[in-house]
Amino acid sequence: MAVTRTPFIAGNWKMNLDHLQAIAFVQKLAWSLADARHDFADAEVAVFPPFTDLRSVQTLVAADSLPIAYGAQDVSAHDSGAYTGEVSGAFLAALDCSYTIIGHSERRTYHHETDATVNAKVQAAHRHGIVPVVCVGETAEDLERHGASAVPVKQLRSALEGVDGSKGLVVAYEPVWAIGSGQAATPEQAEKVAAALREVIAELLGDQVADATRILYGGSVKATNIASFLREPNVDGALVGGASLDIDEFTSIVRFKKHVGA
Ligand code: PGA
Repeated sequence: MAVTRTPFIAGNWKMNLDHLQAIAFVQKLAWSLADARHDFADAEVAVFPPFTDLRSVQTLVAADSLPIAYGAQDVSAHDSGAYTGEVSGAFLAALDCSYTIIGHSERRTYHHETDATVNAKVQAAHRHGIVPVVCVGETAEDLERHGASAVPVKQLRSALEGVDGSKGLVVAYEPVWAIGSGQAATPEQAEKVAAALREVIAELLGDQVADATRILYGGSVKATNIASFLREPNVDGALVGGASLDIDEFTSIVRFKKHVGA
């Protein structure tokens, strides 16, 4: 059976743009995509601003019926209570967030998030009807020691333990050494790991979920290399950091179909 997964281009803003800048940015991005006559059947577009921007982005997207999805960069494993500084999935759902990133390597590194934390956060997102964008990826040292797929496969196995596959899932393969380095993985390498990750999903959540799940590549994605990743059968989009903050560049990434045949 032929699978159709709508490509997904996600902009991870990280800790950039306050709520006023976010409003201007999303407005301009919508204009830029409209100017380019972007067909959203070719690629779904989502932005992941800081928590403090989400209410403003929600208001703008709803008021102007913009075809841009949005989500958070993290979610608490807990729903409410004495967890200072945490943000509940219930609050994100109340802001109509469709997605939340979980287990980004910067959270794993700077906030010591473990595979168990990532799993608990995936379940928390699902409790509130939010689709997790689960990030996995190996460090340069892991790559040298174990090859490219061993660590991402282990991380994904743990992230998906006991998870209900019917509640939606996006996976992002982001080699840690490729993030913000200007040195992206090769498309062949991304494909190899994405295929291994899809097998994990099939094994744990079934073939149907595996077929439907979008697997993104992330790490130094730019307008000049996006098409080569999207040509791979198991790569269904990109999680874009730095380049998602430049409207022309991000628009060009979203419009990868224009350069995919090149
Ligand atoms: P980058 O970041 O595109 O700046 O490499 C990707 C990410 O961290 O999601």
